[in-house]
Amino acid sequence: MFLKRIELKREHIPALDKYPFSIPSIKDLHRLDLKSNVTFFVGENGSGKSTLLEAVADKCGFNTAGGGRNNYYDLHASESALGDYIRLSWLPKVTNGFFLRAESFYNFASHIDTVGAHEAYGGRSLHEQSHGESFLSLFLNRFHRKAIYLLDEPEAALSPGRQLSFLKILHDLETAGDSQFIIATHSPILLGYPHGSILSFDDGPIREIEYEETDHYQITSYFLQHRGKFLKQILED
Ligand SMILES: Nc1ncnc2c1ncn2[C@@H]1O[C@H](COP(=O)(O)OP(=O)(O)OP(=O)(O)O)[C@@H](O)[C@H]1O
Ligand SMILES: [Mg+2]
Repeated sequence: MFLKRIELKREHIPALDKYPFSIPSIKDLHRLDLKSNVTFFVGENGSGKSTLLEAVADKCGFNTAGGGRNNYYDLHASESALGDYIRLSWLPKVTNGFFLRAESFYNFASHIDTVGAHEAYGGRSLHEQSHGESFLSLFLNRFHRKAIYLLDEPEAALSPGRQLSFLKILHDLETAGDSQFIIATHSPILLGYPHGSILSFDDGPIREIEYEETDHYQITSYFLQHRGKFLKQILED
């Protein structure tokens, strides 16, 4: 592990009623200890997962539009509002890594084409690969060495089968390559990774919960077991 702790510099906060400090999970944040090589951020839409992940990316020196330290391109509308207000504690510090934002991956792919670096991504332009193929190319070709990877909803492009492939890549990197991951996700498949810790952004301060406690597990599991009854309840009420 490299990144051990994220702290909010509360003494520097200008106003608790303004974004991003108005988000309940951020308002209540004092210090977050990371205990595993793989940490998942879970929570309802709008609970603050991307806000915190982007702030960590900013402090790591990664392009907050998505990328690593050396990927300089259009920073349009991607300044981190929280980056200046958090403190990261490392042991040891790493500078390698990558911040994946599903929604701006297209721009990242264009940037790779522009600088002619597609050899490092499987030898083909990321634009000539499907959304899911290009994500997996990134994971397979770019992710290695001692590094920290910050991934915002990596499941967005991946079929259930490819999500399982991603778990295998994650496992191989975590065990062999000294890699750390923080992953914001809504995927009950990714959350099922056995060696991760799950931090919930719902209901007050960010706290660690078990897989079975997540809405993602409970709703998916109930849906799959009682699909007819569940849909009847939802659609006919
Ligand atoms: N630039 C901004 N200015 C004001 N409010 C913002 C800004 N960006 C996000 N927010 C608000 O902050 C809250 C947290 O947003 P954030 O994107 O961190 O949520 P999230 O947990 O990642 O959600 P999702 O699961 O939908 O990706 C939301 O209510 C959102 O509307
Ligand atoms: Mg988000």
